[in-house]
Amino acid sequence: MVITRILTSNELDEAVRLLESGEVVAFPTETVYGLGANALNSKAVAKIFEAKGRPGDNPLIVHCANQNQIFEFTREIPQEAFKLMERFWPGPLTLVFKRTDRIPKIVSAGLDTVGIRIPDHPLALRLLDKTGFPLAAPSANLSGKPSPTRAEHVYSDLDGKIPAILDGGPTGWGLESTVLDCTVSPFRLLRPGGVTLEELRGFGKIQFAGDILEEMTDAPRSPGMKYEHYAPEAKVHLVLGENTPAKIKKLGEDYVRAGNKVGVMTWEERKHLYGDFTILSMGSMGDLNRFAVNLYHLLREADRLGVQQLFVEGVKDDHLGLAIMNRLRKAANNRIIKT
Ligand code: TXA
Ligand code: MG
Repeated sequence: MVITRILTSNELDEAVRLLESGEVVAFPTETVYGLGANALNSKAVAKIFEAKGRPGDNPLIVHCANQNQIFEFTREIPQEAFKLMERFWPGPLTLVFKRTDRIPKIVSAGLDTVGIRIPDHPLALRLLDKTGFPLAAPSANLSGKPSPTRAEHVYSDLDGKIPAILDGGPTGWGLESTVLDCTVSPFRLLRPGGVTLEELRGFGKIQFAGDILEEMTDAPRSPGMKYEHYAPEAKVHLVLGENTPAKIKKLGEDYVRAGNKVGVMTWEERKHLYGDFTILSMGSMGDLNRFAVNLYHLLREADRLGVQQLFVEGVKDDHLGLAIMNRLRKAANNRIIKT
């Protein structure tokens, strides 16, 4: 058991020192907090898997300081990918390329590819700059839990398991990066995120097979997708369709009678429809950016408040809504109700 320190941005040098000595440090990115280690040091990277309880066949994203760095780690970069880097980096887009031998096997979980991105967060960029090495970093949650969007989320999951958390306040996007496989033609969307499918399609053809969970086979393209559930302790019910309030009220009241604490995640303007249930406000109606920023916090709040059954109103499956619905479907783990 180690003492987990919370470092402020003034203590960045301490985070650098820990990373240089082969330790793991949680740090903010523009999407969610990452649990970083020197990507070129297998022993340091092994500590990430251990702290998170992450299965060894789920590869990590490598975070780089600049575009020049990626040539050391990747090969066969298709021409079209340069346009995406130009437009979206630094930012919430992870590109998967063939890797070079510079990337230790443990980072890529034995695959011959590597996912790489330049994060758009001043503290993350300063860390990368000062250490001079790339950081392998998954989201800094315990495996299976919602990703952390605040330093206190990391603390509640990893206290006693990691030496330090660099606190940069709440993250700006709230959902993990978009993951795009650039080793196939056309490129294939593996995980929707802040850079939307619509934006990517502005640059050329992109394959996307709808809900990624439903197309999982024995050999998933993005190994992580079969593990991540983004799930709180509360049972999440995703409710879709026109007459959601009536349906949620009826089902919720049944749960209350059975002795369960019921929560509803809904827009601020609709919360009066759910009188007695515990309300988790998604923010002002239709503001998907704000909802994305708060989504994981709300899932964690539901647990803090002791909610056992959580009903969530679905949103439209396009633009940022595609990433939100992808995470909600997983949190709901097939408890999807159509009205
Ligand atoms: O926004 C983010 O992407 C955050 C921040 C910290 O950068 N990181 C993150 O990492 O969400 P993680 O490990 O929680 O999710 C990475 C996802 C997993 O689903 C993983 O399987 C997939 O990306 N992935 C990583 N490398 C891959 C590769 N070489 N091929 C296919 N999928 C890959
Ligand atoms: Mg994750």
